[in-house]
Amino acid sequence: MPCFSFLFGRRDSSRNRFSEVDEEFSGILKAKLYSYKELKIATEDFSPTNKIGEGGFGSVYKGRLKDGKIAAIKVLSAESRQGAKEFLTEIEVISEIEHENLVKLYGCCVEGNHRILVYNYLENNSLAQTLIGGGHSSMQFSWRTRSKICIGIARGLAFLHEEVRPHIVHRDIKASNILLDKDLTPKISDFGLAKLIPPNMTHVSTRVAGTIGYLAPEYAIRGQLTRKADIYSFGVLLVEIVSGRCNTNMRLPVEEQYLLERTWELYERKELVALVDTALAGNFDAEEACRFLKIGLLCTQDTPKLRPSMSTVVRMLMGEKNIDDNKITKPGLISDFMDLKVRGPQKTKLETKSSSSYNSSNNPDNSNLSSGATSAATMTFTVSYDRST
Ligand SMILES: Nc1ncnc2c1ncn2[C@@H]1O[C@H](COP(=O)(O)OP(=O)(O)O)[C@@H](O)[C@H]1O
Ligand SMILES: [Mg+2]
Repeated sequence: MPCFSFLFGRRDSSRNRFSEVDEEFSGILKAKLYSYKELKIATEDFSPTNKIGEGGFGSVYKGRLKDGKIAAIKVLSAESRQGAKEFLTEIEVISEIEHENLVKLYGCCVEGNHRILVYNYLENNSLAQTLIGGGHSSMQFSWRTRSKICIGIARGLAFLHEEVRPHIVHRDIKASNILLDKDLTPKISDFGLAKLIPPNMTHVSTRVAGTIGYLAPEYAIRGQLTRKADIYSFGVLLVEIVSGRCNTNMRLPVEEQYLLERTWELYERKELVALVDTALAGNFDAEEACRFLKIGLLCTQDTPKLRPSMSTVVRMLMGEKNIDDNKITKPGLISDFMDLKVRGPQKTKLETKSSSSYNSSNNPDNSNLSSGATSAATMTFTVSYDRST
C-alpha cells in the first residue's frame, strides 16, 4: 500500500507529526489505533499496581480506556520490536479474527518506538493462574466446567487452523494463554503474535516456566512448525485440565514428574482414571474423563501425522466420533529430549546457566516449574542451542 511507506518515511518526525499520521492511519486500518498518551492515562503511567502479568513478549497492564472499557494492555518489549509497517500488517490480520473462544484484540499503539497491543480484558485470569497454578487460586472447576473449557479451546484452535485463511499456527498454546471470561468461557490469547517477534527469538524464551513441556519434539528439536505442533500442545493442555496439574512438576516422585509420561504409563495399565484431579472428589463422568485423556494421548503422539486435526478433536471431545483405542501410540516425550540434551556437549554451560533444574529432586524449591524462572533459563538455552545445530 503506497501510503504506508509514505507515512512511515516520516517515522522520526516530531510527536505532533506522528499523531497526524495516526489519524490518517485510523481511516485505512481496521484495527483501532490508540495514542500512547491514552494508554499511559489508562494504566496510570504503566503503574506496577496495574501490572497483571509478564510474558515472553513484555508486560501486561490492566487499564481503563477513554470509552470506559477495561482492557489488557500489552507493552511489547524492546527486543520484540519490528518496523511499524510490518507490525501493522500483522495487527490487521489479528484484529479481523473473531471467535467466541479467541481473545479480542481491540487495537494497538505504534508511536515512535512503542509497540503496544490492546485486548479485551478477561476477568477470570488464565488457566495457569487458576486451575493449573498449583492451588494459589480459590476457584473451583467442576467436571462440567472443565469439559466446557476443553471443548472451547479445541473449537478456538480448530477455527485458527482450519477456518482462518491463511491458517494460523498459534505456536504457543499453553495454560497461561488460555484466559477465562466471567462465565469461565475459555479464550485463546496471543494468536498471531509469533510473527511479531524476530525469528531468532523463539517463544521458548518466554520467562514463564513450563513452556517447554508443551513443545512437540519435532518442533523443539528440528524447528518443524506445523499445525500438528499446536495439536501436541493442546494435547498436553487437555491432560493438564483433566488432572489439574502442570505438565512438569519436579516436586513429585520421579515417576510422576512428567505428566505425559505418567499418562502413558497409566493408559498402558488401564488405570487412566487415577489421573483425574482429586480435587473433583470423585464428582466426574469417568467415561468422559478417560476419553479426554485418550484424546490428549492421541494429540501428543510422537509421529505428527498420527495426531488428529483439531476439528476431529472437537468431535471426539463431544462424543460424536469414536476413538480407536488400539491406535494410540506412545507420546513424544519431552523428558527424553531433555535427557538427551543433558548428556549433550553443552553440558557444562547448561549447568552454569541454571541451578540444575533437571536433577533437582533433592532441591524441590528450585524445581517447581510453575514458580521459577530458573528452569526456563536452562530450557531457553537448551532449545536455542538445539535449533542452531
Ligand atoms: N486479555 C487479558 N485479560 C486478562 N489478563 C491477561 C490478558 N492478557 C494477558 N493477561 C495476563 O497477563 C499474563 C502475561 O501475558 P503474556 O504476556 O501473554 O505472557 P504469557 O502468555 O507467557 O503468560 C497472562 O498470563 C495473563 O495472566
Ligand atoms: Mg500470553
